[in-house]
Amino acid sequence: MLPKTPVSHGLTALFLAATTSAKILYAGVNSAGGEFAQQNLPGAFGTDYRFINQSAIDFFIDAGVNTIRLPFLLERMCPLDTGLGSTFNESYFSEFQTAVNYVTMRGGYAVIDPHNYYRYNDPSSQPSSGSIIGNTTDANASTTADFAAFWGELAKRFATNPNVILGLMNEPHDMPTELILSNNQASIDSIRQAGAKQLILVPGNGFTGAQRWLNSTCSGCKPNADVLTAITDPASNFAFDMHLYFDNDTSGTHNECTLAAPGNLAATTTWLQENNYTAFLSEFGAGANSVCFKTLNNTLMWLEDHPQFIGWTYWAAGPLWGSGTAC
Ligand SMILES: *[C@@H]1O[C@H](CO)[C@@H](O)[C@H](O)[C@H]1NC(C)=O
Ligand SMILES: *[C@@H]1O[C@H](CO)[C@@H](O)[C@H](O)[C@H]1NC(C)=O
Ligand SMILES: *[C@@H]1O[C@H](CO)[C@@H](O)[C@H](O)[C@H]1NC(C)=O
Ligand SMILES: *[C@@H]1O[C@H](CO)[C@@H](O)[C@H](O)[C@H]1NC(C)=O
Ligand SMILES: *[C@@H]1O[C@H](CO)[C@@H](O)[C@H](O)[C@H]1NC(C)=O
Ligand SMILES: *[C@@H]1O[C@H](CO)[C@@H](O)[C@H](O)[C@H]1NC(C)=O
Ligand SMILES: *[C@@H]1O[C@H](CO)[C@@H](O)[C@H](O)[C@H]1NC(C)=O
Ligand SMILES: *[C@@H]1O[C@H](CO)[C@@H](O)[C@H](O)[C@H]1NC(C)=O
Repeated sequence: MLPKTPVSHGLTALFLAATTSAKILYAGVNSAGGEFAQQNLPGAFGTDYRFINQSAIDFFIDAGVNTIRLPFLLERMCPLDTGLGSTFNESYFSEFQTAVNYVTMRGGYAVIDPHNYYRYNDPSSQPSSGSIIGNTTDANASTTADFAAFWGELAKRFATNPNVILGLMNEPHDMPTELILSNNQASIDSIRQAGAKQLILVPGNGFTGAQRWLNSTCSGCKPNADVLTAITDPASNFAFDMHLYFDNDTSGTHNECTLAAPGNLAATTTWLQENNYTAFLSEFGAGANSVCFKTLNNTLMWLEDHPQFIGWTYWAAGPLWGSGTAC
């Protein structure tokens, strides 16, 4: 996602109040930072990028939040000179693993998030730069098999930690929905072959937008609802990964919440229900003003009232936002 809107104290109070629900299994925040300064590869740990602030994680866990989504950059995990696949930069992996293990050691769930829009090789102008993974007419693109190999290795390393949740990819967009299906399915198969049985979050086209799951989101692209029903999981343990912003173009870049909420979730919720699927809202966010707080509250109430939704993580907390934030 585009905006860098830190979580505020008012918001923290609002979503802490909402975590008492019995139906929502996972409630928390993104800890953005591991993917920051993406124009600077590999970048320096601590200044360009950083995954968590341990005392901020303590604050959230102690307050009753149980889920932290942890974005990272594929080009840092799998540097360009060795390419996308099962060879990692072990230093970056170790920094990421330290964050994952800290969250789960505190009893939380950690959502793994390759923050790459199904692109790899040039993150400098995300979300649009870089070759689309699996684009067979782009000689520079890594393949669907490369991506599956990456996931097999990563899943193997976390297979024994039941509190890890595997988010396949952040916000695919502007590519054939069928290619998203192929990349998703190859990764799911690879993860299960690696022996990992944890919950997998499966994204769709159109920046995985919850409000347009039933709609075409690019020229000639089929709706997620028409294509992703072909997903199969040998372990029967996946949920669709959805995002939702409330400004006029659902980009999360404006302060005003102008979209009707929670009505914008109604059609997708019906689709989930009719097809016996669940969903996880791994990003949603809004400006710090009273209209947006009301919108957020209405949305959280909708999620709690519909068992199709099993969890959510707000965008965003994180160690590198600067001052004036809750963490
Ligand atoms: C590997 O990661 C470390 C730590 O994040 C970083 O300092 C180093 O430059 C990286 N190396 C490559 C080849 O990306
Ligand atoms: C592949 O990358 C090279 C080097 O950056 C570039 O010159 C070439 O145009 C790229 N090819 C495609 C198909 O994008
Ligand atoms: C796939 O790569 C080709 C060659 O670079 C490019 O023309 C095409 O737009 C790419 N496909 C998508 C969906 O971007
Ligand atoms: C999205 O798709 C639904 C279901 O087909 C349709 O009712 C709705 O009008 C579409 N919305 C837009 C903005 O195209
Ligand atoms: C969205 O709102 C902003 C002001 O916050 C305005 O500049 C922009 O033109 C609006 N965009 C649309 C698509 O209405
Ligand atoms: C829906 O999914 C649940 C849990 O996987 C399963 O027990 C149930 O049989 C399914 N129902 C239908 C109608 O497919
Ligand atoms: C959120 O909405 C619910 C139901 O509409 C209402 O009872 C509650 O007071 C609201 N909470 C806040 C903090 O606005
Ligand atoms: C970590 O978070 C704590 C508590 O929110 C804050 O006081 C501290 O300044 C943060 N440390 C860094 C290095 O950002």
